[in-house]
Parts: sequence; C-alpha cells; structure tokens
Amino acid sequence: MKIKLSPRLEVIASCVAGVKSMADIGTDHGYLPVYLVGNNLVSRAIASDTNQQPLKKAEIIISEQQLEKQIETRLGSGLSVLKPGEVDAVVMAGMGGLLIRDLLEAQPDVARQKKKLVLQPMNNQAVLRKYLAASGFRIIREELAREGDRVYEIIVAEPGTMTFTNPLEYELGFEFYLYKHPLLIALIERKIFLEQQIVRSTRAKTTVVAAKQFQESSLFIEKLNEVKRCLSN
Ligand SMILES: C[S@@+](CC[C@H](N)C(=O)[O-])C[C@H]1O[C@@H](n2cnc3c(N)ncnc32)[C@H](O)[C@@H]1O
Repeated sequence: MKIKLSPRLEVIASCVAGVKSMADIGTDHGYLPVYLVGNNLVSRAIASDTNQQPLKKAEIIISEQQLEKQIETRLGSGLSVLKPGEVDAVVMAGMGGLLIRDLLEAQPDVARQKKKLVLQPMNNQAVLRKYLAASGFRIIREELAREGDRVYEIIVAEPGTMTFTNPLEYELGFEFYLYKHPLLIALIERKIFLEQQIVRSTRAKTTVVAAKQFQESSLFIEKLNEVKRCLSN
C-alpha cells in the first residue's frame, strides 16, 4: 500500500526531499517518514513522538509497509531523541509555533547543526520567524499549502543569519514580496478572516487588554488589505 499524503504533508515532503536521512519530530501517524522512505526520497528516517499512543500508530504503519529496517521509532520530547548531526533534515509539523520554538531552544546542539529544518507551525508563525532570526538561523525557503479554507505555512531554515526588512515579513513569510507564492493572497485572506474574528470578539469589551487587541487587529487588517491590493495590481 502506498501512502497518499494530504496537500500539506505533500509540500512538507517536497521540502525534505534531496537529503539522505530525516527525523520527523511529533510524527503521530508516521505518514511522512513512511512516504519519504517508501518512495525512496530518503534512505533512512527516525519517527519520533512524545506520546506512546501516536508512536504505536506509526509503528503499525511502518510494519505494514515493511519499512522497519529503514525507519526507527523513538519515544521522547522534541530534539532530545536525536544526537547532534544524526540526520540531514528535521521536520516539526502540525505543532504550535511556540512549542516548535521551545523545542528548538531546548536542544541547541541538535538544532544548530548545519542541517535543514522543515517547520510547519499551526499558529504563532511570526513568533517563530522572529525567534529564528534572533537565534542564528536563516530561512532558505517558504512554502504554502491549502487544505479546504486553511492555508498552512511551511518554513525551511538552516543555521545562518537573515535580516527582515519589513515587519510584515514575520507574518507573511521571509521576503514574501520577492516570493509571490500563488497562495499568498489566499494566506492573506485567511489571516484577515482570523483577525476579523478577533475584532468582532473584542469590539464590545471594555477591558484595556481587549481594547489594545481590538486596535492591533484592526491595524493589522488594514495592513493586510494594503498588501493584498499591491499584490493584486
Ligand atoms: C497534530 S500532530 C502532527 C502530526 C504530524 N507531524 C503532522 O504534521 O501531520 C502533533 C503530534 O506532536 C506530538 N507532540 C506534542 N508535543 C511533542 C513534543 N514535545 N515532542 C514530540 N512530539 C510532540 C503529539 O503527540 C502529536 O502526535
């Protein structure tokens, strides 16, 4: 049985391809390493999760595909399951941006190897990009993937330095103006939609925190609309 990946995981797989070995941190179902090894896109993989249950799911599918010799499973948190330099690429996908940041920060010796990091934060993407810029990483590729009305951001980074010239790059992707991804407008529309929800929920509230949030989100929507207009012209 060949694994059919979702559009999000397909894009993540395309960002990993080109290396010999990879680790999927927070693998859950294990689809990504199974797909990569099963299609000879990498020769060796480590599938890891902090929870026993998901790792069991991954073990079942690895065994069904008879890939036990090439895919090793490891139970543990974040990059603690890896030795520095053990694999050529590390994926952390489907987790919150703050968790991904904390897991990178917790194991700097592993994170800062001259290796490829493929990160797909579900939220707090801007916080993660800021962390990467401030912590000796550079973004070498940005990708987007759409599933239904969601647009996922995939960040590929390696050790190095980078300079953000526009604060909106933290939100929309490093050098997004140059990049002009076909899904960039869809990403902006999604972010506007999410900010509008915040505006609606904070509009009638009287607390200082809510008023600040209302202002910030309203301003952010204006900026996003401006970028959208520029990109559409
Ligand atoms: C939503 S799933 C994402 C699965 C897969 N990576 C994907 O993108 O489809 C998140 C997985 O991360 C695992 N996880 C959460 N915290 C973790 C940590 N500190 N270290 C490793 N895995 C973790 C969870 O157990 C869960 O299986």
